[in-house]
Amino acid sequence: MDPIRNPYNPGAGARPPALVGRDEELQSFDVAVQRLGMGRHDRSILLSGLRGVGKTVLLQEFGRIAQGHQWVHRHVEATEGFDLTKEMALLARDAILRLSPGKRLAGNTRRALAVLRAFQVRWDLPEAGGVVAEVDPLLGWADSGRLDNDLGDLFAELGQLARDHQRGVLFTIDEMQCLDKDRLGALITALHRVSQIQLPLIVVGAGLPSLLALVGEARSYAERLFAFRTINSLIREEAIAALAVPSRQEGAEWQPEALDAAIEATKGYPYFLQEIGKHTWELAPGPDRITAEDVEIALPLATERLDSGFFRVRVDRTTSAERDYLKAMASLGPGPHSTGDVASVLHKTTPQVNQFRDALIKRGLCYSPRHGHIDFTVPMFADFISRRLR
Ligand SMILES: Nc1ncnc2c1ncn2[C@@H]1O[C@H](COP(=O)(O)OP(=O)(O)OP(=O)(O)O)[C@@H](O)[C@H]1O
Ligand SMILES: [Mg+2]
Repeated sequence: MDPIRNPYNPGAGARPPALVGRDEELQSFDVAVQRLGMGRHDRSILLSGLRGVGKTVLLQEFGRIAQGHQWVHRHVEATEGFDLTKEMALLARDAILRLSPGKRLAGNTRRALAVLRAFQVRWDLPEAGGVVAEVDPLLGWADSGRLDNDLGDLFAELGQLARDHQRGVLFTIDEMQCLDKDRLGALITALHRVSQIQLPLIVVGAGLPSLLALVGEARSYAERLFAFRTINSLIREEAIAALAVPSRQEGAEWQPEALDAAIEATKGYPYFLQEIGKHTWELAPGPDRITAEDVEIALPLATERLDSGFFRVRVDRTTSAERDYLKAMASLGPGPHSTGDVASVLHKTTPQVNQFRDALIKRGLCYSPRHGHIDFTVPMFADFISRRLR
């Protein structure tokens, strides 16, 4: 069918043509923004889930909602070695300037910039912009040398500035599992402070399932500070809508058997749904219906795209010992698996292979759902390994 009108959108953070199954998350976020805007209390949010389920897409959607309420939204993606201190100073700078366009150095804006300047000087951060450099640091604010305290000062200042302008600030942090425990702890303490004084500033973090344990270890009270949301693959009706709604809007109907075949193959995994939607649309003669045969023809291509792109990049940088570990996991069928069982497949003891397990966790390919267990962070990864890594 017409490739120009193909609605499906596979890709990291690519906005799906129909964002289904996330109404609850969207609605509670909208409520939180409005409550905070009124000076009521609400919580920052942590989204956790496997690769390709739609965490980044949700963060962006939250950003749109916040902007719809005149909030400032800034987004950052953590990577290994992420410098939280520097990144927060940059986000704060943007937020201050965006909260007060046109009258940048007036009154409360000047004060917020002076606190930011103190933070920059104390934390030895490279000058983030001419406007901030022109301001003298406000002594005694954000300059104690304790990150939790100084970030807290900075956030409180930002929250107050936002409130003065009847607006708010949303920071979204993607791949949050990359933060080290100390910095994560400081961030949590700083957020705790703004949340106590009910200022309109929240952070929404997203990351792999390992994020939850990490946050709990960093600060025990984090459990009460954040609303935790697990983002999963879509259930059947949602997966049907994810495929059927976008094509209906383009005047084409998926036949029920076509939907059955696509849902069986993808198991409701959002990334795969977009991929199969895209290839089926491309190959289907149409003009106004998609049949089970179209899906059957498209499936090998969609799988190939998944294998050579999404899956392949994840294993490309692994060592051969790490791959052996992955293969051993895959040979055990659907996870999670006890690390002892994986070691047995390799004819080794658990301590002998722990370093490979740890390296795979560090690469974000695996995670430990509970003590002594391991699973893939990518849905359907076991199938890929059995298909491709022999
Ligand atoms: N609710 C949804 N309905 C349909 N498709 C979706 C939905 N959410 C995400 N997708 C699609 O899934 C794909 C992956 O989304 P996204 O990049 O947000 O996932 P992610 O969880 O951030 O993955 P990663 O952990 O690899 O960063 C995109 O192509 C997106 O369009
Ligand atoms: Mg993502």
